[in-house]
Amino acid sequence: MTAFRYKRDSLYVEGIAVSSLAKKYKTPLYIYSHKTLTRQFDLFDAAFKGIPHLVCFAIKSNSNLSIVKTMADRGGGADIVSIGELYRARQAGVPAKKIVFSGVGKTHEEIQAALRADILMFNVESEQELEVLQKVAQKRGKKAPVALRVNPDIDAKTHPYIATGMKENKFGTPIHECLRMYNKAKNFSHLDIVGISCHIGSQITQTSPFTAAIHRLRILIEKLEKNGIFIQYLDLGGGLGITYSDETPPAPARYGAALKKALKGLRCTLILEPGRVLVGNAGIFVTEVIYTKKQGDKNFVIVDGAMNDLVRPSLYQAHHEILPVKKKRAPFKRVDVVGPICETGDFLAKGRRLPRFLPGELMAVMSAGAYGFSMASNYNSRPRTAEVLVQGGKSFLIRQRETLGDLVRHEAGSLYLLQHGLVKR
Ligand code: LLP
Repeated sequence: MTAFRYKRDSLYVEGIAVSSLAKKYKTPLYIYSHKTLTRQFDLFDAAFKGIPHLVCFAIKSNSNLSIVKTMADRGGGADIVSIGELYRARQAGVPAKKIVFSGVGKTHEEIQAALRADILMFNVESEQELEVLQKVAQKRGKKAPVALRVNPDIDAKTHPYIATGMKENKFGTPIHECLRMYNKAKNFSHLDIVGISCHIGSQITQTSPFTAAIHRLRILIEKLEKNGIFIQYLDLGGGLGITYSDETPPAPARYGAALKKALKGLRCTLILEPGRVLVGNAGIFVTEVIYTKKQGDKNFVIVDGAMNDLVRPSLYQAHHEILPVKKKRAPFKRVDVVGPICETGDFLAKGRRLPRFLPGELMAVMSAGAYGFSMASNYNSRPRTAEVLVQGGKSFLIRQRETLGDLVRHEAGSLYLLQHGLVKR
């Protein structure tokens, strides 16, 4: 996380003191480094130099318009999984012909919207979806560009909640059924078979699960060719991991080299759907200590950020480094860093050796750029935080902090409240 660095013992992002941003925009707060975002995109893209490819940023990892726009400006497309993500991608200026649509439960409405937008391809995940796509496309008098999302039954060796490519997972179509399904799709009048796709999981720290997936896809592609079905796009999904603490994932260049080697001889355009590797280490979450207390043998540091803002520690027992924003100093004792939410599972770190924090101090939760804000909620009626992007020595408020009014905006005018006298006509 090179853009986030200590200078004279205070944490800076691209030359701006994190403490000054916290003062200006208040806490809890997400801060992103533009330099890191663009460097990661460029490194990732360069890893596939020499072969036809398209990098489709997985919008679910960070769906802020300014972040998506940053990726689009470098030539990135978008991997979407809902009509909301389609809307965001288009709002951020992603060309429709650089959008791929994955997801096990695309509704008729979503399929219609994506057809209308003229996206690059639908990654179809079931036989019923194939039939619906044909029906909707026929109704609109359009041909839908299709890839089947193959479930290659590969262990991505990651947290079970984020492994997606094993046969017991809900994703994709079992690989042994794909040939039959492709043949079925071939006979549908309003489908145009253009690709094959898979996504085996997230936070993967080795290249072997990816190359194993390519190996299985290659066998299928060869069978398809024998059946007169030619694959133009091979979408390998996302999943490349990052360093949160001591993980050693391959750098994009090594990942790219391994993939290119495994793809040798295939004449498809490669599509990739990276999320975490592009944004994970480009963002931090800043929170202020409210209280500290000792209870039995336990030391608690209670902060103003909570599981509704950053759920990864609670949901996956994920480890995020925690640093003091001012006065870099050595660890002092083991503490639980917890939020104000009424859940025992509301923590940002557990049993972590940290420096002594006092009320009013700021802490930075590192590597929070991916699946941080995008998984935030309003649980416990907490307004969602602001997001700030730092670029060239300037800070931009890229999402305003929600207000108390925002919390009730969609309820306050209800007929029920009107009839019960809470709202005046
Ligand atoms: N493509 C598809 C179809 C996906 O489902 C995902 C992530 C990606 C691409 C991007 O994967 P990435 O490059 O970011 O690993 N909330 C979890 C991660 C869930 C990932 C879901 N799918 C977390 O915080 O670790």
